[in-house]
Amino acid sequence: MKKTSLWKDDTEASFYPPLQKDLNVDIAIVGGGITGTAAAHLLTLQGKNVALLEAWEIGGGTTGFSTGNLYATVEERLNKLQCKFDETTARAVVSSRSAAIGHIENTVREYAIDCDFHRRPWRLLSETETFDRFLQQEYKACLKTGLDAYLDDSAPLTFPIRKALRIENQAQFNPMRYVKALAAQAQKAGGRVFEHTPVLHIKEGSPNILYTENGTVTANKVIHATHSPKGVRFVHTLMGVYREYAIAVKLNSDEYPEGIFWVMGKPHQHSIRSYTRRTGENYLLVLGEPHKVGHKKDNEACFRNLETYIRARFDVKSIEYHWSAQNYRSADGLPYIGSVNDKAGIYIATGFATDGLTYGTLAAMIISDLILGKENPWSRLYDPRRHNPLKSAGRFVKENAHVFMDYLTDWPYRAEAKSVAGIAPGEGKTVVLKGEKFAVYRDEAGELHQVSAVCTHMKCIVNWNKEQKSWDCPCHGSRFTVDGQVIEGPAILDLPKKAANHPR
Ligand SMILES: Cc1cc2nc3c(=O)[nH]c(=O)nc-3n(C[C@H](O)[C@H](O)[C@H](O)COP(=O)(O)OP(=O)(O)OC[C@H]3O[C@@H](n4cnc5c(N)ncnc54)[C@H](O)[C@@H]3O)c2cc1C
Ligand code: FES
Repeated sequence: MKKTSLWKDDTEASFYPPLQKDLNVDIAIVGGGITGTAAAHLLTLQGKNVALLEAWEIGGGTTGFSTGNLYATVEERLNKLQCKFDETTARAVVSSRSAAIGHIENTVREYAIDCDFHRRPWRLLSETETFDRFLQQEYKACLKTGLDAYLDDSAPLTFPIRKALRIENQAQFNPMRYVKALAAQAQKAGGRVFEHTPVLHIKEGSPNILYTENGTVTANKVIHATHSPKGVRFVHTLMGVYREYAIAVKLNSDEYPEGIFWVMGKPHQHSIRSYTRRTGENYLLVLGEPHKVGHKKDNEACFRNLETYIRARFDVKSIEYHWSAQNYRSADGLPYIGSVNDKAGIYIATGFATDGLTYGTLAAMIISDLILGKENPWSRLYDPRRHNPLKSAGRFVKENAHVFMDYLTDWPYRAEAKSVAGIAPGEGKTVVLKGEKFAVYRDEAGELHQVSAVCTHMKCIVNWNKEQKSWDCPCHGSRFTVDGQVIEGPAILDLPKKAANHPR
C-alpha cells in the first residue's frame, strides 16, 4: 500500500527551479495549487508579468490530495444556504460554480490537457429512511437553483440504497495533472514558475516585498493562494480546520461505478468515485472520517474505518493507496475571495471546505478580474470583507470555543511526557523542560528531533499527527515537519529548533 495520493502517483513530476535572484513583477502569486496555477494562467494570458512561488511542488498541497470531483452544489448543502441566506444567493453560488467548471472544461479542451476530465452525474444517496426528508428538501433546493436534478429510487451501485438525488452534467478529473498543465501554460505565456521556494516573509506596501531564502520578489500585487492566507488575519478566526482521509482500492470484479457518489451517514458522509489510470488499471476511491485538525490522537484508525466501510459495500481485492489532507470551513458557508488591502494590492482565497477545486478556480477568475479592473458578477458575494454576523454566528462561536479551549488546555500546560526518555521510536510527544514547551519526535533510528511546541502563528501548542508524522496546530491548522519546517497553514515562520539539553 502506498502512502500517497493516486493523482500524484499517476502524474509526471514537474521540475521548476527555485528562485535564485531578486525579481520585479506585476503580480506575485504565493502557492501553486489549483487557485495559484489558475490565477497565473489567466493573468499571464492577459500580458501580466507574473511570478508563481511554490514552497514544495506544483499541485503538491491539498489539490493533489483531493478527490478530483467538480460539482455546482456544495458540501454545506444548497437547502442550508437557502435558509441561511436566500434563493438568490444559492442560485448565484450554483451559477458561479457552474461557470468555474465550464472554465476548467474549456481549458482542458483548448490545451488538450490529458487529465481524464469527464462530465459525470453527481449523486447524494441515502441508505436508510432517516435521510428521506432531508433528500426531498435538498432536491427542491436544487430545482430552485436551476440545476438538472432528479430524485431516484436506485443508483448504478452494487450495494442497496433507498433514494438518490442526482444532478446531471457535473465532472471529474485528475487534479494534479490539470494543475501541472496550467503551470506549464502560464510559463509558456511568459510567467515565471518557481518550485521549492517558500515565501518566508511578506512586507506589505507599495510595492510589496516577498522574501525567500535566495532572493526577494518585488510586486505591485500579491495573491495568497496558499489555501489559508499567510500571517495573522481576521479570517483565521472565522474558519474551522478539518482533516479528511482517503483510500484507493482495487476490486475483484470490473464493477467500478461511474460518477460522484456522496453517501449520507451518521456521524458523517462518505464520498465514492472510481478512476482509470493511464495504464488502464481501475481504482475505487473512498473519502471520509473528518475531524478537527490536531484533535484526534489515533488518526491512523481513520484508514481502518474507511477500509471497513468500503469492504461492507464492495468486493475489495486490495488497498492500494492512502492519503489525507485538510480543509478550511468558513463561518457563513461561503468562501472568502478577494482583496483584503486595496492600497497594497493583497488578495486572499480561502474557506473552500471540500469544494475548493471549483471554488479555487472561481477564486482565480474573480481575483484576476479584480486585478484587471473587469466587472465580475460574483466578487461581492464572496468578498472577504463582507459582514455577515448573523449568518456566521453559529460556526464562529463553535470554532472559537474550540480555539479558546485549546488555549485553556495550554495554560497551565499539561505535557504528554515527563521526559524525552518516555518517547518511543516513531513517536512524538510534547514535553516541558525547565519551563519551556518542546515538541519532541524520536525517529526510528532513535534520534531526537526537538522543536519549540509553540505555534509561530498565534502561540497555540502544537499536537502530534501520528499518521502524517507532523506537528499540527489545533487553532488555525498550521502544520510543521518534525524539524519544525512549515508545511501548510497560516504560519509563515518555522518552529525554532531546540538543543538537546536533557537526558536522552
Ligand atoms: C481530502 C480532501 C478531498 C477533497 N476533495 C475535493 C473534491 O473532490 N472537489 C473539490 O472541489 N474540492 C475538494 N477538496 C478541497 C480542495 O482540494 C481544496 O479546497 C483545493 O485543492 C485548494 O486549492 P488551493 O490551490 O487553494 O490550495 P492548495 O492546493 O493547498 O495549494 C496551496 C499551495 O500553497 C503552497 N504554499 C503554502 N505556503 C507557502 C509559502 N509560504 N510559500 C510558497 N508556497 C506556499 C503549498 O505548498 C500548496 O502547494 C478536498 C479537500 C480534502 C481535504
Ligand atoms: S495556526 Fe494559529 S496559532 Fe497555530
